[in-house]
Amino acid sequence: MARRKRIYEGKAKVLYEGPEPGTLVQYFKDDAYAFDRKGTITGKGVLNNRISEYLMIRLADIGIPTHLVRRLNMREQLVREVEIIPLTISVNNVAAGELAGRFSIPEGTPLPRSIVEYYWKNDEYSDPMVSEEHITAFGWAAPQDIDDMLALALRINDYFTGLFFGARLKLIDFKLEFGRNYDENGEMRIIVADEISPDTCRLWDSETDEKLDKDRFRRDLDKVAEGYQEVARRLGVLPTSGPGDVAEPTTIQ
Ligand SMILES: Nc1ncnc2c1ncn2[C@@H]1O[C@H](COP(=O)(O)OP(=O)(O)OP(=O)(O)O)[C@@H](O)[C@H]1O
Ligand SMILES: [Mg+2]
Repeated sequence: MARRKRIYEGKAKVLYEGPEPGTLVQYFKDDAYAFDRKGTITGKGVLNNRISEYLMIRLADIGIPTHLVRRLNMREQLVREVEIIPLTISVNNVAAGELAGRFSIPEGTPLPRSIVEYYWKNDEYSDPMVSEEHITAFGWAAPQDIDDMLALALRINDYFTGLFFGARLKLIDFKLEFGRNYDENGEMRIIVADEISPDTCRLWDSETDEKLDKDRFRRDLDKVAEGYQEVARRLGVLPTSGPGDVAEPTTIQ
């Protein structure tokens, strides 16, 4: 494996310098964090790489731009480098997790309409929820950018709700990250970045409501890796050929 420069190591992924300017290699790790607990979910990185690739290709099918260029191997994908907008946009269809707790709504209650929320990506301050006012006042995004992200998030929600239902999964909620991407003429467009996977979506079996996402890890349930496998299997992207995994590449500082 070629030596290359590590740009950033996060909790779930590592970003390396890509082969061409304006590209990055995104490496998916098996690490998982929940609250203050760290763990390893064997094979998660391999599965999230496939699942996120699949879902971003489906977005491209309907004309939604994403950072994905192509998957490179079991754990890595080539992506377009973006200026990350420091926000997480969450879309909730059914009350679950923190939202259910905050409003004392029993988990599993369908929401009368999808609720979109913005959070400032800042680990030190535990990603506080922010309004459009904060976003524009602090210069994280312009009003037009917010409109674009909201419209994209709602379109993605409609499309994925149907897509997952076809795979016997309920899309309870999910979060997105967006980034600014510039073309040769310096034109800016907002594209979907980061990952879309059972780490970033709540997915329940459509008949039994069994959780098949990162909540199995957060709540210390059994069969955590199996949840990720089941999502991959139902989407038709479960790797069939054993581990065949790649080691994390050597890094030069
Ligand atoms: N196309 C891209 N270009 C630049 N940065 C990206 C791109 N896609 C994702 N990122 C950033 O790469 C990092 C991925 O790592 P990971 O998700 O493991 O981080 P994390 O520990 O969750 O921290 P963070 O709170 O920043 O997401 C994130 O900071 C994400 O915002
Ligand atoms: Mg992240």
